[in-house]
Amino acid sequence: MPLPYCTPADQAPPTYQCPCHSKDPLIAPSVLACDLSNLEAASKMVLEAGADVLHLDVMDGAFVPNISFGFPVIESLRKNIPDAYLDVHMMVAEPGKWVEAVAKAVGAAEGKPAQYTFHIEATDDPKGLIEAIRATGMKVGVGIKPNTTVSDIEEIIPLVDTVLVMTVEPGFGGQSFMGPGHATNDVLPKVFDVRTRFPEIDIEVDGGLSAKTIVEAAGAGANMIVAGSSVFKGDPVDAIQSLRAGVLKYGLGKSDDEINAVL
Ligand code: DX5
Ligand code: ZN
Repeated sequence: MPLPYCTPADQAPPTYQCPCHSKDPLIAPSVLACDLSNLEAASKMVLEAGADVLHLDVMDGAFVPNISFGFPVIESLRKNIPDAYLDVHMMVAEPGKWVEAVAKAVGAAEGKPAQYTFHIEATDDPKGLIEAIRATGMKVGVGIKPNTTVSDIEEIIPLVDTVLVMTVEPGFGGQSFMGPGHATNDVLPKVFDVRTRFPEIDIEVDGGLSAKTIVEAAGAGANMIVAGSSVFKGDPVDAIQSLRAGVLKYGLGKSDDEINAVL
């Protein structure tokens, strides 16, 4: 029986193949691509479709040239999905300013699962920020834009739960994946580098992820997969399964039979 997640016949094997991948897939739909007037229904739908994490893109119009939604929206949403793991992607100029507001919105004090993912480009005091986030009980993610290097974060990687390697310029959904063959920038060597040196860390990729591009992203070592357009503009169950299968196959080296048993 053909597998639902079969890669396209013309799909080449991954360019970067990390032998030391050790982390399970975490599939994180980005609600930026959903009908935001039906955020509750869309969130429940993707969680039921198999999402492990809900990715919430907060944009302030300063760090990125776009504005999305903020804490009142997250707080309202949280009431309707009390147990979901929320990954709050803070594309904001002052990430230190909003830790308490996000912690309150996600229910961190009540032990609700959440991660505060900030951008290294937006802070001069990453260690202080990490401490402040930890103090609330939230997990910590640090993100790098396409032109930011791993050396800019390597000192703090041991202090965080997740490294987010942006695979598009942050600010908008629906952009092209910056992997091998991209016109200006292939960011996947950074994923490969982090996976090789920090085999236990969660590596998140965000932007342009689909059943096609997951091959390269997972091969390089990414396991936490953010996807907006490919999940919400197609069949969410198929899309989430394809992304999970991609990590299992190209990241963890599982056979098709092993993958079928898990999906
Ligand atoms: C972009 C956001 C992404 C975005 C991804 O700045 O951080 O999370 O929603 O959207 P797609 O999957 O459509 O590229
Ligand atoms: Zn994002």
